[in-house]
Amino acid sequence: MIYGFIGTGNMGRTLIEAFIRSGKLKPSELIISNRTKSKAEALAKSYPGLRLASDNRETVRNSDVFFLCIKPGEFRNVLDEIRDAVREDQIAVSITSPVMVADLEAWLSARIAKIIPSIANAACAGNSLFIPGSRLTRENRDHLRDLFGAISQPLMVEEVHTRVASDLACCAPAFMAHLMEKLADAAVEETGLPRETALSLVTRMAEGLGRLLTEGGFTLETLQERVAVPGGITREGLNLLQKDVGPVFNELIRLTHAKYEDDIEKVQNSLFPKMKK
Ligand SMILES: NC(=O)c1ccc[n+]([C@@H]2O[C@H](COP(=O)([O-])OP(=O)(O)OC[C@H]3O[C@@H](n4cnc5c(N)ncnc54)[C@H](OP(=O)(O)O)[C@@H]3O)[C@@H](O)[C@H]2O)c1
Repeated sequence: MIYGFIGTGNMGRTLIEAFIRSGKLKPSELIISNRTKSKAEALAKSYPGLRLASDNRETVRNSDVFFLCIKPGEFRNVLDEIRDAVREDQIAVSITSPVMVADLEAWLSARIAKIIPSIANAACAGNSLFIPGSRLTRENRDHLRDLFGAISQPLMVEEVHTRVASDLACCAPAFMAHLMEKLADAAVEETGLPRETALSLVTRMAEGLGRLLTEGGFTLETLQERVAVPGGITREGLNLLQKDVGPVFNELIRLTHAKYEDDIEKVQNSLFPKMKK
């Protein structure tokens, strides 16, 4: 089975490296292409046996499953380029949330899946979000679930929930990293603790927190209860957070959804310029 990757930017590269490191795929099972060739060349050099295609059509022609690891605005160009090379028996996987499965099915004869990975998959952790297209067979679904199961916990989601699930699975690592950095910086500002120490403390804390929530039998709720004993210092801190964090996360979800709607409209205008305004 040969797996093609069109686009070897942040996420294309992350997926390729995670599949290889997990032992799920061998470099010789991969063929890649990227607009800026030097980027794909560098990746191919790092993994002997990984094949570099001269263009996206070559990637498609030589693969059984191919991934579209490009940004929403890049879909029209790539779909125009590969359309004639795509076969009905192939599986095309898009990792891009605002490109609708039905639109890809209208463009390509292949069996379509949308699978949104997370940066956490680089550590063979976190979820990947699986939105199967209508032409995927049960065998195709099992195959993709098994593939992504090597680097993540694949979770089936309705396409209508893609955005909010992506916020929690894919954007939240950045949101949480930002909040942890703010917490560390506040500690530095308020007490003079060296920044390096503060950052190391919150980083190790996050490692432990992750383990407690996944393997340690804690839920978010029980963990707060365990640490914040009544009358203790953590309880005081939690009370302040409950009072002052306010609706910022509601605003955040509304903001990501507004941007998503905007992206969907732009993609549809580029894919079907006459049909949809
Ligand atoms: N970053 C995340 O955590 C994350 C998580 C889940 C999903 N995603 C989705 O993944 C998609 C890609 O994101 P990214 O962060 O990987 O973006 P990125 O780093 O910009 O990578 C996109 C890659 O696509 C290449 N490309 C553009 N047009 C092309 C063409 N015509 N033919 C071949 N390659 C082409 C670009 O090549 P150049 O080198 O020429 O720019 C670039 O390497 C986005 O839709 C994003 O929403 C990202």
